[in-house]
Amino acid sequence: MSAILARQGSGIRPLAIADLDAVMDIESRAYDFPWTQGIFRDCLRVGYCCWCYENDGLIQGYGVMSVAAGESHILNLSVRPESQRQGIGSKLMKHFLQLARRHDADIVMLEVRPSNVSAISLYEKMGFNEIGVRRNYYPADAGREDALLLALSLD
Ligand SMILES: CC(C)(COP(=O)(O)OP(=O)(O)OC[C@H]1O[C@@H](n2cnc3c(N)ncnc32)[C@H](O)[C@@H]1OP(=O)(O)O)[C@@H](O)C(=O)NCCC(=O)NCCS
Repeated sequence: MSAILARQGSGIRPLAIADLDAVMDIESRAYDFPWTQGIFRDCLRVGYCCWCYENDGLIQGYGVMSVAAGESHILNLSVRPESQRQGIGSKLMKHFLQLARRHDADIVMLEVRPSNVSAISLYEKMGFNEIGVRRNYYPADAGREDALLLALSLD
């Protein structure tokens, strides 16, 4: 009974290999250039922080963060298109910032496309600042697109 209730609830939990079909369904609809399932498998295998937000047994969003040598790097943050603008991305971000602190990181960094105004708005609300530009970082329809490098100091 408790397992059923837990499955029907909502909250943040670790991502597992068994979730990857659901993740890929979101990933392929959330991005023009989605990660492959192999990238998610590699992130789980090497022990990156891989978490998802689930509601009534359905994954609504997920993210991936690496932590090493006092630096955290948010590598992926995605919310199911039908569930965006409901606070799920913010919940996942807050969770990752807590995790980064728990891992004694001093700084959290991430890259974002300059064209991704909704993500930039979310990151700015979380306190991130632009600290640089990575030229030709992302694939794009017309060649490559720069990435903005954003950072949040945890001091
Ligand atoms: C970016 C993303 C993760 C945000 O998740 P979300 O659950 O929709 O975000 P939230 O509901 O927590 O919104 C938090 C803030 O983000 C900004 N935001 C989110 N969606 C927005 C939109 N469509 N337009 C403008 N601002 C938006 C707003 O500032 C919002 O605060 P507000 O609702 O008080 O105005 C989600 O839009 C997404 O998955 N996008 C596709 C994948 C992607 O681009 N990921 C980021 C890669 S760097």
